Amino acid sequence: MSTPEQVSRFRLSDQYQQLKSALHRHLIAQIEERDLDIDRWPPAKTERFVLEQVRRYVVEQKLAVNAREAEVLARDALHELVGFGPIQALVEDDTVNDIIVNGPNAVFVEREGRLSAVPVRFVDDTHVVRVIQRILAPIGRRVDESTPMVDARLSDGSRVNAIIPPIALDGPCLSIRKFRKTPLSAEDLLRMGSVSQGELDYLKERVEKRTNLIVIGGTGSGKTTFLNLLSQWIPNGERVITIEDAAELRLHHEHTVRLETRPPNLEGQRAVTARDLVRNALRMRPDRIIVGEVRGDEVLDMLQAMNTGHDGSMTTLHANSPRDAIHRLELLAGFAGYTGSEQTFRGQVAAAIQLLVHVARLPSGPRRLMSVVEVRGLRDGQLAMHDVFRYDLERERHVDCREAP
Ligand SMILES: Nc1ncnc2c1ncn2[C@@H]1O[C@H](COP(=O)(O)OP(=O)(O)O)[C@@H](O)[C@H]1O
Ligand SMILES: [Mg+2]
Repeated sequence: MSTPEQVSRFRLSDQYQQLKSALHRHLIAQIEERDLDIDRWPPAKTERFVLEQVRRYVVEQKLAVNAREAEVLARDALHELVGFGPIQALVEDDTVNDIIVNGPNAVFVEREGRLSAVPVRFVDDTHVVRVIQRILAPIGRRVDESTPMVDARLSDGSRVNAIIPPIALDGPCLSIRKFRKTPLSAEDLLRMGSVSQGELDYLKERVEKRTNLIVIGGTGSGKTTFLNLLSQWIPNGERVITIEDAAELRLHHEHTVRLETRPPNLEGQRAVTARDLVRNALRMRPDRIIVGEVRGDEVLDMLQAMNTGHDGSMTTLHANSPRDAIHRLELLAGFAGYTGSEQTFRGQVAAAIQLLVHVARLPSGPRRLMSVVEVRGLRDGQLAMHDVFRYDLERERHVDCREAP
């Protein structure tokens, strides 16, 4: 057995899964018997211990396993013992952005925006749940029958969502969205064709000139990535306050104050909402306020901030087009208890927001800046919107609308 295909076929076989489970039980038994404190061992020591145990096990059990296979087995056993089991290698692989587990036999990854199945499997549902618990344990969370759904953020910034039976009908599901250690830069986005140089130049100038803007797009379309990119262009002397549910933005400004919301505790109290934070931020003499995402009643305070001298404020909003974004804002304002007329509200939006930056993930995977739209006040009760740039899907290129006749 030597080719990667043969290795992965070997690892997917039922026989191998059983062998791995038996070996895992054997290792646990050894550790308990000898009362070893492997959690405190340096990784290299644990690795040596596992390799040695696997070699012995193979000999003792007279397994028909060659040296290469024993090595694969030892690595998998190690991941089972101290890592995230079958998906540990994917967690360590920096080219993987997302890991998706739909039950024990269907594992997918996203690389460069493309989703593909990977030859990785779990023994059974219990095995998947065990790995989920292992992932959640360090942050004091767990899934069980009373909490069958968990949405959490790991200490490294990755996001984890898990949902287990009986709610998930076809076995436990897990998704991990890894947090990029170094956020995508303007050069990265340019190289991948997500933006054009003309768009970057234009946006940089608008940020420097303190335009109020909203980055809009669907889930995972790249809104936060884009907001982060835009924020880097804020001139250094300005005082910036960021408000997020989970600190994702990476600003390198001297005068940055980072605020994070807090969910309510178990008794449902002591929450600190984005609205609380926006209100408080206004008293902190900011030049600009950046809200990671508007999704609740902070929408009114954010618009007000944009209307009252905090020019250059920015946020993101879940919406699928510029028109949809306006509807979403109206909807959120309604939920937030806005009682004025639609007309008045649109007037506020028109006064507060100068630019909409629409990003999307195309069905084939890549992410694109779809349009940059300027809001130029109200006309006949509607917001007047003008395309500055748009992406031509058919010809697959970014179009500068200012050049068009
Ligand atoms: N232009 C891009 N090309 C490739 N990957 C991207 C691009 N923009 C964002 N990503 C990646 O897509 C994932 C989701 O991006 P994120 O900005 O968090 O989306 P959103 O805030 O819209 O949910 C992240 O892993 C991010 O690194
Ligand atoms: Mg986001």
